[in-house]
This record gives sequence, C-alpha cells and structure tokens, in this order.
Amino acid sequence: MVINVYPLESLPVEQFVTATGRDYQPVRATRQIREKMSLVFAINGQRFELALSSVDPSTTLLEFLRYQSPFKSVKLSCGEGGCGACVVLLSRYDPVLQNVEDFTVSSCLTLLCSINHCSITTSEGLGNSREGFHTIHNRLSGFHASQCGFCTPGMSVSLFSALLDSSSSEFTVLEAEKAVSGNLCRCTGYRPIVDACKSFAADVDIEDLGFNSFCKNSLPPFDSEKRVCSFPEFLKDEMKSIDSGMHRWCSPGSVEELQRLLQGARKANSVGLSVKLVAGNTSTGYYKDERDRHYDKYVDITRIREMKEIRETQNGVEIGAVVTISKVIAALKEIRVEKMFGKLAAHMEKIAARFIRNFGSIGGNLVMAQRKQFPSDMATILLAAGASVNIMSLSRGLEKVTLEQFLQGPPLEDYYDLVLTIEIPFWHHRSSELLFETYRAAPRPNGSALAYLNAAFLAQVKDRMVINCRLAFGAYGTKHAIRCKEVEEFLSGKLITDNVLSEAITLLGKSVVPQEGTSNLAYRSSLAPGFLFNFFHSLIITEKPSSNGYYHLDQPKPLPMLSSSQHVPINDEYFPVGEPVTKSGASLQASGEAVYVDDIPAPANCLYGAFIYSTKPYAKVKGISFKENSVVPDGVLAVISYKDVPKGGQNIDTQRHADTAANLALVEYETEDLEPPILSVEDAVKKSSLFEIYPFLYPQQVGDTSKGMSEADHRIISSEIRLGSQYFFYMETQTALAVPDEDSSIVVYSSCQTPQYVHSSVAACLGIPENKVRIITRRVGGGFGGKAVKAMPVATACAVAANKLQRPVRTYVNRKTDMIMTGGRHPMKITYSVGFKSTGKITALELEILIDAGATLGLSMLIPSNIIGALKKYNWGALSFDFKLCKTNLLSKAIMRAPGDVQGTYIAEAIIENVASSLSLEADTIRKINLHTYDSLALFYKDGAGEPHEYTLSSMWDKLGVSSNFEERVSIVREFNESNIWRKRGISRVPIIYPVSMFATPGRVSVLSDGTVVVEVGGIELGQGLWTKVKQMAGYALGLLQCDGTEELVDKIRVVQSDTLSMVQGNFTGGSTTSEGSCAAVRLCCETLVKRLKPLIEKSGGPISWNNLISQAYAQSVNLSASDLYTPEETPTQYLNYGVAVSEVEIDLVTGQTTVLQTDILYDSGKSLNPAVDLGQIEGAFVQGLGFFMLEEYITDSEGLLLTDSTWTYKIPTVDTIPRQFNVEILNSGHHEKRVLSSKASGEPPLLLAASVHCATREAVKEARKQLRMWKGVNDSELMFQLPVPATMPVVKELCGLDIVESYLEWKSSVN
Ligand SMILES: Cc1cc2nc3c(=O)[nH]c(=O)nc-3n(C[C@H](O)[C@H](O)[C@H](O)COP(=O)(O)OP(=O)(O)OC[C@H]3O[C@@H](n4cnc5c(N)ncnc54)[C@H](O)[C@@H]3O)c2cc1C
Ligand code: FES
Ligand code: FES
Repeated sequence: MVINVYPLESLPVEQFVTATGRDYQPVRATRQIREKMSLVFAINGQRFELALSSVDPSTTLLEFLRYQSPFKSVKLSCGEGGCGACVVLLSRYDPVLQNVEDFTVSSCLTLLCSINHCSITTSEGLGNSREGFHTIHNRLSGFHASQCGFCTPGMSVSLFSALLDSSSSEFTVLEAEKAVSGNLCRCTGYRPIVDACKSFAADVDIEDLGFNSFCKNSLPPFDSEKRVCSFPEFLKDEMKSIDSGMHRWCSPGSVEELQRLLQGARKANSVGLSVKLVAGNTSTGYYKDERDRHYDKYVDITRIREMKEIRETQNGVEIGAVVTISKVIAALKEIRVEKMFGKLAAHMEKIAARFIRNFGSIGGNLVMAQRKQFPSDMATILLAAGASVNIMSLSRGLEKVTLEQFLQGPPLEDYYDLVLTIEIPFWHHRSSELLFETYRAAPRPNGSALAYLNAAFLAQVKDRMVINCRLAFGAYGTKHAIRCKEVEEFLSGKLITDNVLSEAITLLGKSVVPQEGTSNLAYRSSLAPGFLFNFFHSLIITEKPSSNGYYHLDQPKPLPMLSSSQHVPINDEYFPVGEPVTKSGASLQASGEAVYVDDIPAPANCLYGAFIYSTKPYAKVKGISFKENSVVPDGVLAVISYKDVPKGGQNIDTQRHADTAANLALVEYETEDLEPPILSVEDAVKKSSLFEIYPFLYPQQVGDTSKGMSEADHRIISSEIRLGSQYFFYMETQTALAVPDEDSSIVVYSSCQTPQYVHSSVAACLGIPENKVRIITRRVGGGFGGKAVKAMPVATACAVAANKLQRPVRTYVNRKTDMIMTGGRHPMKITYSVGFKSTGKITALELEILIDAGATLGLSMLIPSNIIGALKKYNWGALSFDFKLCKTNLLSKAIMRAPGDVQGTYIAEAIIENVASSLSLEADTIRKINLHTYDSLALFYKDGAGEPHEYTLSSMWDKLGVSSNFEERVSIVREFNESNIWRKRGISRVPIIYPVSMFATPGRVSVLSDGTVVVEVGGIELGQGLWTKVKQMAGYALGLLQCDGTEELVDKIRVVQSDTLSMVQGNFTGGSTTSEGSCAAVRLCCETLVKRLKPLIEKSGGPISWNNLISQAYAQSVNLSASDLYTPEETPTQYLNYGVAVSEVEIDLVTGQTTVLQTDILYDSGKSLNPAVDLGQIEGAFVQGLGFFMLEEYITDSEGLLLTDSTWTYKIPTVDTIPRQFNVEILNSGHHEKRVLSSKASGEPPLLLAASVHCATREAVKEARKQLRMWKGVNDSELMFQLPVPATMPVVKELCGLDIVESYLEWKSSVN
C-alpha cells in the first residue's frame, strides 16, 4: 500500500473577509478598487469577499464550499458532473431587467471565480435544524426517501430548483419526475424520491402517492410565495466586473476587450504564457487532466455581450457561443414556427443532466467535439439542421463556416480561435414537406449517458419523393459527427421503396464505421440502419400491403410515467416496534447537516493523502517518481510506502493536490524474476493457485447425483455460464481521518462497516496495543459490503502516515481510484450438467464453479456457501458441486450486497431456462414444478428450513400470481408480440430463498438524569435504518415499565456513533442481520434496566412518570447504564428469507433498449421491525440488482485494470431505468419464536428478485429471435441461447440480430 501525503496550504483566512449580510469588514483599499480586485458572492445569504490575487482560478466552487466555508451540505461523490451530489442553486441578478435567474449547477465543475456577484444556495440554505427544515426536507423524510443520505442534499436542491422553474406555470407530475433525473442514488431505488417530488405537483392525486408518514391530505405545506430568498439584496448593489488583465482570472465584457486581451496573451505566449478560455468549465468533467494543468491566465468568456445573445433573424436563429444549453432549449421551444427546433430542443434535453445543461454552453460543446473528438450530440443534430459557425480567429479574423467545415477543419487553436456564434437556419418556408428527426441510443433513455450512436435526419419531400436530405451520424467512435453524403445523394430524387432503402442501408454500412478500438463496435454500426429505416419508413411505397400487420412500424414512444403501489402491514404488537417510523435523522440528511467523515473539519496541520494504485497485476515496485516536466503541486511532502516514511513538513494543502500528485506519479515496475501473472480462473486451476476453503464453510451436497442423472429422461451436459463483477458505487467513496493523540495513541474516523477489524488492523500496523487505538464511525454514505474489508487499508494508511508524521492525515479517495482499488463482486465461471424428466422435473444437478477471488483471500471463503444457499431455492433432486476458489493476480474481490447469493439465484434461473428451452416448455412451468415442498426444503436446508408454517414461498408464488394478474398478462404479452415486430415483451415470475445468519452484537443503553436515553450499538448506520429500528426497540423494551410518558420515549432516545473503545466486540455490519442483532442487544440491555427500575415502581405504590422514576433512580444510585452482548442461539443461527417477483419488460429491437414496464414484488418480512425501512430496503436492493443484471458493465483490460472507471462509463440505474410500474407488497408472516420479535431480514435478499427482469428480458429476446429465424427461414434450434449479465443494450441487440433491419427488408421483398 502506498500513500502520498501532502502538506496543506489553506487559503489564508485573513485574505477573505466574511461576514453576514452587509456587515463585512472593510479593507484598506477603497471599495471601488477593492471590488475590481475581489470576488464577491453570497452563500446562503452570507456575504463572501475574496481577494482575487489569493484565489487559484482552478479552484472549484465545491472545493471552496466544502473546505473553506462552513457549508458542508454539498457532497463530493464523482467530481465529474455525473452524479448530482454536489448540486447547488446558482442565482444571478440582471440589473437591466431587474430580475433574478435561478438554476442548478454542479459545484464540482463550476469554477469559483465564475460566480462573481452570484448567490449560491445549498440544501442547508433552504432550511436546517436551527431555523427549521424546508418543506422539501420534511417531505423527503416523510416519504422515506433518504437512506444513507449522501445524495439527499443534492436531490433537495434539484427539486427546489424545479419548483422555482415552474413558478409561472404549475408544477406538474411530469416535471416532478424529471426534477431529479440527473441525480444518482444508490440506496433508495428512486421510487420514494420521485413520490416526494410528485407530492408538490398540482396535478397529482394524493391517493396515488407512495407510502408515506403523512396523514391523508396533510402534507407539510409548501408556500411558494414564501420562498427562500435566493439572491440577497446587498449583492444587487455590487454588480461590478472584475478588472480584466490584472489577475490570472479575467472577464472581458466585449469581443473588443477580449481581442485586446488575447493579442496581449499571444505576444506573451512567445515566452510560454498559457491561456484557457472558460465558459461553463463543464468539459473538465470529461477531460479530467485539464484540472491538473496549470494555466497562467483564465479568460472567462461568459460575460462577452456578443456571445451571450440569442437573435432571431429572417433566415434563422443566431445563438451566442456561451449561451447555456438550457437557454438554447428554452429559446428553440419558443420559436414554434420552425417545427424542427422543437425536435432539436427535445434532443438537447437528453444531453447530460439539467445541472450541466444549465452551465455548459453550446459553443463549449462544439469546441470539445471539434478539438477533442468529444462524442457530442450537439454537433450531430446541428449538422443535420444545417448550422454554421462564426469564428473569430486571431490569425484569420472573422469568418463564417458551415458546421461541417468547422468539424472537418484542423483543431481550433487554444484561445487563438474563438467561436462567437452558431446559426441555425429556418427550413419551413421551402415549398416541400420537411421531415426532421433525431435519434440517440444510450444506456439511459433520458440522458446522463453518452450515446452509443446519435443521428439526425432532415429530408425535403414532395409527393413522397425525397428531394434532398441531410443525414448526420455521430458519437459512434468517429473523429466527429459526419454527413453520409453518398447515401444522401443516392436517396435524392428517389421514391422510397424497400429496395431503395435496402440499398441505402448497404451504402450506409460503408460510411458509419467506428474507429478501431471503439467499444461495442458492431453494435454501434448496427444502430445506423435502424434509425434510417425508422426515419424513412413512413415514405415506403409498399407494392403489396400485407394483411398480417407485418408492415407496420412501431414509432418510438416516450417512457410511460412512473407509478407504484405499496402494501405494508403495520404490526402494533410490540409498539413502537413495527411502526413505519421515518428514518432517524432523515431531515438532517436532507439539509446536509448530517456529518460524514469528510465533513469533520480538518484539524490544524492536517495532511492529505492519495493512493497511487498499481496498474500491473503482478510486479515488484522498483521506485516511484513524478512524471518528467510535470508541475507537482506545492507542498507535496512525501510518498509513503510501507518502508519509507519521512518526517517533517511545514505547510498544508488539499485533497485535490494530493490527487494531482498521485496522478503524476510514475511507478517503475520490475517483473524480471516473476512468473507471468495469473489472469484467469482457468489459468489459476492449471497452476493450482487456489485458496483453501475451510471444511466448515464448504456447503453440503444433497442426495446422489449419479442416481439422479440415471433417473433423468434428458440431460444437458457441461453447459457453461460466466458472470462478471459489479462495483459498489456507494455515493461516499472510501474515506478516513487519522489524528495522533497523546501517549502514542491514535483516533481514526473511518467510513467503514467493520470498526472492530479496522481497529485491530490499525493497532497491528502501528505496532501499538489495541487500547491505544480508537475508531469512530458515525454514519457511512453507503457501504453495500465495500466498506468492510476494503475500508481497512484506507483507514490504516492514514493511521500509518499520521503516526509517522505526527500530524493528522485524511484521505477522501477519488471516484476513479476508489473504483480501481475497491473492486467488487466475484466473477466466476460455472459449468453444469443437469438431468430432468420430460415433465420438467429436475432430478440432478452437478456444478463446477471457479471463483475468481483475486490476489488475497478477504472474505471470499463465504462465497461458495452463499452461492449454494441461494441456488437451493429449487428442488434439484440431488445436488453436487465442486468449488475452486482461485487465487489470481487480479484485484482482490470484495463481498458486495448479496455476495454469491445473487450469482446463485442467477445460476438457478439460467439452468431452469435452459431446461425449459430444451423441452419447449414455459420457464414458469419448470419453476413451479421444481419449487420446494416443505419436505424437500428441509432436505436441502436442514435446520435452517425452520418449522413447516414458516415456509411461505410456495403460497407466495401463487399469491403474487393472482395479485399481479400473471396468467392474464402472459396472454397479453403473447398478443403484443404477435402484432409488433420492432418491440417485443417478456414476463417472468421468479422466486428467491435467501439464508441469513445471526451474529453476536453488543449494545449499551444509558438513561440520563433528564430521562433522555443514549444508545450505543455495534452495528453501523449505513442508510439501512439500523438506528431507527434500534430506537424503536429501546422504546418498546423500556416502555414495558408502563409508567407515564413511556409512549413518547422514542423521541427521547438518541443513538450515538460507534466508538470501538466504548463498545468493544462490535463485529461487522453486514449479512442483513445487524439491525436485528443490534435490536436484540438493546433489548437485553433494556431488560436489565427494567429489572433495576421495577422495584422503584413497586415501591412507589402508584402511577409514576418516567422522569420521576429516573430522578428517583439517580437519587438512589441505581445503575442506569446497561450493556450486553447478544449471542444467537446455537442452532439454528440461520433462517430463510422468501420473496417472489414478477417483471414485465419491453425491448426495442432497433436499439436493444430494455424498458421494465412493471415489477410486482411480494416479500416476507416476518413481523417487520419497521415496514417503511424494510420497504426502502426491498426497493433499493431490487434496483441495485437491476443494475447488476441489466446495466453495470465492469470491463477491465487484459491485465485486469478497470476500464469502466467513472460515471461516464459505469452506469448505475437512474430514475428512468427503474420499473415504470413498481408494486411492492410486504407479507407479515406471523410469529417466529427464535427471531428478534419475529422479524426477518430485508437488506440483501430482495436484490436477487431483480433476476426476474433479466429472465423477462430473455423471454422477450426469445420472441425476437423466433421472428428473425422466421425471416431467415431457419428453424427454432437457435432458441437455446444464453443472455449474458449484464444484459446491456448491445447484448440484447446482438441476440436479436445486429442485422435485423436488413433481414427484415430482405424478407419483406421476398414475400412481396
Ligand atoms: C456529465 C456530463 C455529461 C455530458 N453528456 C453529454 C451528452 O450526452 N451529449 C453531449 O453532446 N454533450 C454532453 N456533455 C458535454 C457538455 O455539453 C459540455 O461539457 C458543455 O456543453 C461544454 O460547455 P462549457 O461551457 O462548460 O465548456 P467549457 O468547459 O468552458 O469549454 C470547453 C472547451 O472549449 C473551449 N471553449 C469554450 N467556449 C469556447 C468558445 N466560444 N470558443 C473557443 N473555445 C471555447 C474551452 O477553452 C475548453 O477547452 C456532457 C458533459 C458532462 C459534464
Ligand atoms: S460530485 Fe459533482 S456531479 Fe458528482
Ligand atoms: S440515500 Fe441516496 S445514495 Fe444513499
């Protein structure tokens, strides 16, 4: 492990004067001069003034907010514009129009200097715990829409902005759904967030809103008139521009001024001066190296009059290059006379997220496309629209070129060439009919994802004849967007027939050719014919119309609106346990005041660390140096390795500088004496590089598979499945802060799920006794298993550095490093043989599973039993397996939510589908036949099976069948598939069984003299609602005293952070049962307290209030602090969780896009401790599973280095990818003696239910393949296919036929 530690130099506080309102400190210079030399802005109504000379112009707004201001609600998660955690409201005042413009921006990309005279509002500025939360915070809390809370402040601001936007009209349900469309959440599954947003809509029916804690018709009021003041009055008087030319940052106000500046710079450039033109600066989200580059001068071009206007002329519209994409959209929508503009605007709404479009400019986009081959949408659609560009070149002067010439020309010279305006012509006045359409295929339908390919077509048509056309394609792995001139010429003057279109598509294939090395190359090219076909289809002259409907083309439809239902049982037997109480601290999370590790203010002299990760799978590190000619940030103090720890250091720096330096590090590797690395499981087996699996962790075989095989009518032998990895994508990356303390002790604040193990690891690495280490964890911004073992090196590295340097050291691992270092799920190769009867009854299953554990063992030993635990959900007759835990030289794998279990369930479904296909039976029939009876369940799960009445799965299977209308929908799907050729649907019902085990967990309950209660538990609050359940349990267990006031006891209970010296044996938080275990421990503590307090009640002889009782106990020195360690009963420590899901999907055969139309879930929560929390876990886990099965591509290079290492390439689900209709019913399954108040787990098992989406997709693909076979005149044998995981768009399309359009046209002409 290698860590860089850097001295930190914070902005000298005395150089920026802060004060509230108008009451700021005067400095010596006159106000006028000072203003021209200062940045003045407001944050949450507070005035800030910074001496411009003291600001590094590359400082982002986020850096200032988080590290220089008291406002920490803005969170850093991706740092590249892809997640929305850092969103703030930016407000600008126009002194001429005297109005305030409010819009969201991503503060991680916005430069601080850009916000001169602007006002910033963060979530805590909307409302907070001191002045009262904002209605948005209360609604997010009441709709149970915040789990770990790391995304919630960003969600709050995005929603607030959407409400402001709708001020003139009414906020609609449609707008509500889009309000947070670019914001990522990894916990909730979005449904409750969307419902909280919808609760503000004027056209919503309150009854349609999802499960919430508000009484009917009593939502916390939102008075739009009493809005937060986003722009304080005092700023309005201070609208002065910065004196251009005096500083590294300058803001010219006119082209003339800019020219003077640039010419000056050009002269200076002969001695090496570097200049950067800045508009929105959002391009640095993609070109991240740009941030590390040093520029002598930053020229802000957004204030140049001529470049920020939109002018409608006789021939079209001229748009200033710095006009933001949002403003372009708004303007284009206004110009109704030109229908094409509406389509352009609609396409632009799919560019990035709203908070990027609000600051990113049209010109910036085109320059990225022109200069750096950015896969732009703007370039493609404007190319088809016939746009041209006005350029001011320092060498050539003013010139106007077509967009095509602009794109084809040599790359614009850095700041020598300036794009001034873009012109889009009107087309509507020409005599012919105008067709215009734009297309894009991207992993997320509504934006926030680059396109695999985009296209835009314009055609002038008369009497169905194409007079001429412009066909533009881009983003497919091309240098820039292109026009397919050959095809344009071919089509011009032609009537469109199938044959003409066929020929055009053949020609197209020669033009739309991605560059070598482009990902999904064949898929990208295959999209072009589909879009072209779609565009011209309406013009096709069909010689012989068909009666069977095959000639009709389904037009692309917008996504259906989201809707949902929740059936949640409330169980008051153990009140307040069982109540759907809102998550403890949810409003605090929404306002952003909840403190995560990186929110803890940096102690004096704090150093920042960054990891230099290895890029080689198996090598010795010979040395680390910095890249030649690189500018290593000032104050880089040391590169720390396990053996090299220098002392000293004077200054202080920032996390960014630490990251920059780590990026600049050059690692010299040595591989000479080493064997070649082991990079595959097959290689590991060949070289016997295996980890031993302890016998007690090795799952047990069931029955005799040889016998089972011999009883089978059919056998499938040695079929193979491969599964890849999945990254955690918690919103808060790995982080720790280590502070050396007296007497060689150390305190480490760690975002981890395993404080006890972090504790031991720190003590061992520092070589100090454990009583000198203290690990503190208050809350974690999402863990999902990734902050168990993988949090240990981060905390330990900080501790090692802090100990050696005797200075506090903190690290907040950046997203890319986190993705590369932390890794994810275990990839595996499965080979199986299965025997079955002709009825579909399976008689034997034999498996060989090779698991890639990576270079170290970690917790990989748990994976085999987890796989089998979930796979045994069906009665396989007999079951045998051979596991090999392969030790490769790849990254060590981590246990991610439902580790092994999700693979186990998938393997089971893949086998079922294979059996069904080979028998030509429905997979649902095979599933039903092989569901367990209680007897077979007991055979497969032994004691874990519990009592017969606890086995609810088979009745749940039927119950969900009825409530989801399964059979009827199967017929509807069949009909749909018969009458649609370009879209196919599939529906699947999938059961799950998920064994969990209880673990020892400690707790302590202490009553303070005022009757308030403090609870400590071993479990960590990761967003799963552990604290909330624990509070409820303490309320219930102390409430058994039945004195006055115990009903409101929950409000007096506070659960506090985990501290490993205060609460030992904390164990780890994971495996879905920590909430139950922590509740059980708290219950034991409360029982002790109750025993101690009861005599006082008895003595009092009559009713006594809680506060009185506690006063008496204090007076009589009764011990009011009790601690205990809950240890589960010997057998069984395991129990089974059950659930069933039905999912229906629709696939688009042209793009391979899958839309989850509906999911119905039935989940057995036992007697839920808190059904609102469990509902959140069910929905959130399901959507995370959806990511695994459908979206998240974990792609590595040949040496195992992650390539999909950012939000640009790694796509977790967003609002637009969740089921459009999402129904969840929680089953209250009665009394269970051995469980904590009869409750069951909910954290991980529901993730497996997402397999239903994958299975439904396979059904739909099967239909598409049937059709393709029919067109090609091939028989059905190809229906035995496997749908890989994740079933991304390219995967689905490939299975449906990359040449599907060509095949269709061929078939059509053959039947005509
Ligand atoms: C998360 C995210 C997702 C995105 N998704 C998409 C997408 O799906 N499709 C798509 O098309 N785009 C997408 N974009 C790109 C986005 O549209 C651009 O980042 C934005 O338009 C750039 O504008 P800007 O004002 O921020 O440019 P800046 O970052 O300020 O500038 C970009 C570059 O151009 C130079 N420059 C800027 N203006 C001019 C000018 N007038 N003359 C000369 N040089 C200039 C700058 O010096 C810089 O080198 C995405 C961006 C982000 C961050
Ligand atoms: S942190 Fe800014 S968008 Fe992710
Ligand atoms: S609550 Fe949204 S990321 Fe955790």
